Amino acid sequence: MSAAEEARLRQDARAVLSANDRDGYTVPTARLYPFQWNWDSAFVAMGFATWDYDRALTELERLVEGQWPDGMIPHIVFHRPSETYFPGPDVWGTGARIRAGGPATSGITQPPVFATALRFVWEAMPDATRRDRLQRVARLYRAALAWHRWWVGARDPLRTGLVGVLHTWETGSDNSPAWDAALSRVPTTTNTCIRRKDTGHVEAAMRPRDVDYQRYIHLVDTYRAAGWDPARQWAVAPFKVAEVQTTAILARATEDLAALSSALGNDTEAAELAGMRQRLCAGLQRQWRPGLGRFVSRDLVARRDIETATHAGFVPLLALDLDGAACAAATAVMARWLADVRLGLPTVPRSSPDFEPKRYWRGPVWAIINWLLILGLRRNACLDLAERLRADTLAAIERVGFAENFDPLTGEGGGAGSFSWTAAAYLVLSDNDARRDSF
Ligand code: DGY
Repeated sequence: MSAAEEARLRQDARAVLSANDRDGYTVPTARLYPFQWNWDSAFVAMGFATWDYDRALTELERLVEGQWPDGMIPHIVFHRPSETYFPGPDVWGTGARIRAGGPATSGITQPPVFATALRFVWEAMPDATRRDRLQRVARLYRAALAWHRWWVGARDPLRTGLVGVLHTWETGSDNSPAWDAALSRVPTTTNTCIRRKDTGHVEAAMRPRDVDYQRYIHLVDTYRAAGWDPARQWAVAPFKVAEVQTTAILARATEDLAALSSALGNDTEAAELAGMRQRLCAGLQRQWRPGLGRFVSRDLVARRDIETATHAGFVPLLALDLDGAACAAATAVMARWLADVRLGLPTVPRSSPDFEPKRYWRGPVWAIINWLLILGLRRNACLDLAERLRADTLAAIERVGFAENFDPLTGEGGGAGSFSWTAAAYLVLSDNDARRDSF
């Protein structure tokens, strides 16, 4: 692609973010996701930081408006009503837990990319801009710190070093086959009237199935009945997975938070953050399986490892410096998955019986997952593979636009279009600015 074409596409990517801007926060895409989503906004903030630092900070500030007094940052902030999404605030029923005067929110959380995004925005800013924005960044730093403390307290009460998720939506990979066995134990009964709106916006064959939704909503009913109290939820959760992708994102974000802490001249939390990161990294290391060449999550209800092959098994590279043998094993498996498809990395390998090239997290390629994998590969000096994933991501977007995800066999776009985090990924991954190489 010529430089002029790439520049035009970068303009288009900015236009997607601007069109999805709702007064300082960005919806993932109009209609299908009409509110502010947690990890979407973190990626979007990094996209904005390629040309507008203030808008990038505002994205994170608007998300923090929904932070709970206990530190949790919810997966959805319902800044204003919309009829195009289910389940809305009435189903979540979080009123007693949200901040007085704050916006309505969901009751679960999402992968903590926030501090990584904040560091990215900070490092993108010239010195003079940093000085002017110091107070805003410091406030966001404190919000992130409170959330990280919530994660390791509420979601790792036994201090294992791995954080647990209580709903598949918390992983961001809603219908990944990794959750099939654990989710199949969740009853399909629910007191809530399920009125799916998603299949009115996106082909049903791409989305999770009705039976999945019954279980998703059963989990919401269960936690609402537990008053959204973290300890009670942990005790009653029918779905509880110590998850390597979430833990890796948290470990990486903790490293980024520690870097920000010293950049802000504040060393008070240095030891706490170092300890937090060390424990998370040790937890991840225990989940490395040399025979599989991947990390595996653990089903805390069945007390079993989850060996299902998905992209999540490689996300720990984001936070860990692997030894040579582990690095070679992981990259060999990734290379095998890539050899079977036109476009990588598939979220499930083609050789798996679970592979469905068009159904959300059961095969399609996601730009933000590639982005995380690229960061992990660069960290571990696997530059060729990182470059292959970067080239695949950019080429997919150049071919079909800012789709929600991509079919690994045909390269076709899947899910909704004009997707904010795909646009953000394009802006960052096509940016040649050397300062951002570590991102
Ligand atoms: C959805 O509604 O599809 C979301 O992924 C939940 O966050």
